[in-house]
Amino acid sequence: MAALTPRWSRRDLLKTTAAALPAWFVESSVRPALAAEKSPNARPRVALVGCGGMGQHDARLAKRFGDVVAVCDVDAAHLAAAAKAFKGAEKFSDYRKVCDAPNVDVIINATPDHWHTLINLRAVRSGKDVYAEKPLTLTIDEGKRLVAAVKESGRILQVGSQQRSDATFRLACELVRNGRLGKIERVRTWLPSGLHDGPFATAPAPPGLDWDFWQGQTQPVDYVPQRCHQTFRYWYDYSGGTMTDWGAHHNDIALWGLGKDRSGPVSAEGRPLVDPIPGGYTAPSQYEVKFVYDDGVEHFCRSTSANTWGGGVQGRPGPGEKYHGVQFEGADGWLYVTRGGKLEASDPDLIKTPLPSDAQRLYASDDHMANFFECIATRDAPICDVEIGHRSVSCCHVGVIAIRLGRQVHWNPDSEQFVDDDEANAMVAREQRQAYSYETM
Ligand SMILES: NC(=O)c1ccc[n+]([C@@H]2O[C@H](COP(=O)([O-])OP(=O)(O)OC[C@H]3O[C@@H](n4cnc5c(N)ncnc54)[C@H](O)[C@@H]3O)[C@@H](O)[C@H]2O)c1
Repeated sequence: MAALTPRWSRRDLLKTTAAALPAWFVESSVRPALAAEKSPNARPRVALVGCGGMGQHDARLAKRFGDVVAVCDVDAAHLAAAAKAFKGAEKFSDYRKVCDAPNVDVIINATPDHWHTLINLRAVRSGKDVYAEKPLTLTIDEGKRLVAAVKESGRILQVGSQQRSDATFRLACELVRNGRLGKIERVRTWLPSGLHDGPFATAPAPPGLDWDFWQGQTQPVDYVPQRCHQTFRYWYDYSGGTMTDWGAHHNDIALWGLGKDRSGPVSAEGRPLVDPIPGGYTAPSQYEVKFVYDDGVEHFCRSTSANTWGGGVQGRPGPGEKYHGVQFEGADGWLYVTRGGKLEASDPDLIKTPLPSDAQRLYASDDHMANFFECIATRDAPICDVEIGHRSVSCCHVGVIAIRLGRQVHWNPDSEQFVDDDEANAMVAREQRQAYSYETM
């Protein structure tokens, strides 16, 4: 299947990134613009599964390269909204039918985290290429299964950690990888805090929402509005709190800069900084974790005191805090990077001075969705392939397990097991409801 193969010019790069980028970096990152193949018959046919805010956003981005031919959701209201937004798309309520549909080439999976893996597994085994929203998995065990399934199927799977396709994050990682900060001693990631609220009352599920299907593999409970759309990410039943929600972005960048994005930490010590309210959100809104890597680099990950809701940051950082982001600290200085093209350094020359011509350069992508469709055409690995997505979120899962246990855990990134720790190893997988399990779905 041929697809549009967009490449970025210097003008595109400048348009999509901030003025903070030094000229030397922009010049050295530009790839030649290729003429796009315009055959309409070659456009991949895309199905959106999970039609909430992010799913519709992703599908709009995908529409530049393919045709949205199907939409699928377990909430009739969200399904109707998506069908209106993507005219002509066929409506589905069961993703298995979408995976089986012969007229679908590509699936965008933007369901809540607890549904990601079962749908991704079914999709790649059905021969579909997948744009899989982050955080890739609910458990480490899910990631191991998915990595194996993607390799076996030969399908393209791009994880939706789009900071990988942001030139400012790439610049920061290239500088770190090439020793600009000297020997790296530590990295800090600040993740937006979760929500601290409750107790919540049960309510009748809205008409048109299949609450049982929505809950999927998790243990069924009465409907509580705050458990469902968008705020599912603050419940351990469906997510890992902001540790996985935002760690899939900033811890991913930390691992990229450290060159450990196909490996992981060797230990993590964590604790909640606030106790959840009984009957409310179960993931502590504030927490801290100290990871250590095999070379002794320390990684301090903690929540900021600014809340997020549905992705937008509310409130201001507390005293001495930065907004969510990543800071690399080495013997010769520090670099802080976050969204919006923000890159700061202990000395501006650390950024301004060009890297030598023989410097190690990283996979350059400046449009995450374009990179996915380009790889569908070339069958090359996308910038955030399944193993990277799995390893980034495994680091976060290890952190969540340390927070939940309130102690230190030792992790072996080669065997992907905790070391001499039955209690932690029992948390690598979760019990699934039989009707929504690996065996039945
Ligand atoms: N890359 C990013 O920056 C980014 C930003 C926001 C959200 N996300 C990710 O996107 C995902 C969705 O987030 P959201 O904020 O759009 O959530 P949302 O609750 O608004 O949307 C999720 C949708 O999936 C539907 N759904 C649930 N189970 C389903 C199933 N089995 N089959 C089909 N549809 C199902 C829900 O009914 C809902 O419409 C999350 O995993 C989130 O982490 C990524």
